[in-house]
Amino acid sequence: MPPMIQAKNLWKTYGENVVLEGLNVTVEEGEFITMVGTSGCGKSTFLNMLLGTQSCSKGELLLDGQPIPAEPGPDRGIVFQQYSVFPHMTVLENVMAAKAFARKGLTGYLFGSARREAKEEATAILNQVGLSHALNKYPHELSGGMKQRLAIAQALLGKPRILLLDEPFGALDPGIRADMHELVLNLWREHKLTVFMVTHDLKEGFYLGTRLWVFDKLRQDPQAPGAYGASITYDLAVGQMGKKIYEEIDDNLRPVVEVV
Ligand SMILES: Nc1ncnc2c1ncn2[C@@H]1O[C@H](COP(=O)(O)OP(=O)(O)O)[C@@H](O)[C@H]1O
Ligand SMILES: [Mg+2]
Repeated sequence: MPPMIQAKNLWKTYGENVVLEGLNVTVEEGEFITMVGTSGCGKSTFLNMLLGTQSCSKGELLLDGQPIPAEPGPDRGIVFQQYSVFPHMTVLENVMAAKAFARKGLTGYLFGSARREAKEEATAILNQVGLSHALNKYPHELSGGMKQRLAIAQALLGKPRILLLDEPFGALDPGIRADMHELVLNLWREHKLTVFMVTHDLKEGFYLGTRLWVFDKLRQDPQAPGAYGASITYDLAVGQMGKKIYEEIDDNLRPVVEVV
């Protein structure tokens, strides 16, 4: 069996700007990867390559031993920091719409039994993310945490094997963030997901991940900032140790690679 995800000498460049260089890494099903690194070092780009909305410039990125399809699929769900919901639809309608789009593309409407099924499925997922009391609310009536719960419900709709989280809790208050951590850990276990999560919060990275990646540039040219790309400079198995480190890390600590 090939690893679930494998990057082989993966490079990403935009014109002259080298973003990622020579990534070699494998990820097995069920891992929870957390990713930290300076702003602009290519973390979102890497997630987008896993999603299929960006392709690599050189090398390979494989899913089950095959190149990742060049478009998003139901096996990969993503949650961004910005809320990606329709303002004019209720919570339930938002999730049902996501289901319709997944089935039929942007013009899709569901009728009859397909609609009933979508409603049942949407209701069940919203229950799992703790929004069963808010089915008929509109996005502007939701708190930041509730909006992210909605975004997670949408990401889970296609029953993904891989969940991609791009700083999903960066805008939330610490107390709310703690609730979201328990939610994500529960969903990871229950749905047997493989998770890739970018975070600015090293503590969050240690707490949630089974494995923590630090993205950084090994080489820098001050005259030409785009001349060299980042790679994964630390790949730490954290697991239970992460939970212990979490308890000992100061709340205000930032990743050492972060330029504040
Ligand atoms: N679509 C794009 N076209 C050109 N440059 C891009 C594009 N997307 C990202 N970049 C550049 O790639 C680099 C990495 O960006 P990004 O992956 O968003 O970093 P991070 O998520 O680590 O902050 C940045 O220099 C950014 O300007
Ligand atoms: Mg980013």
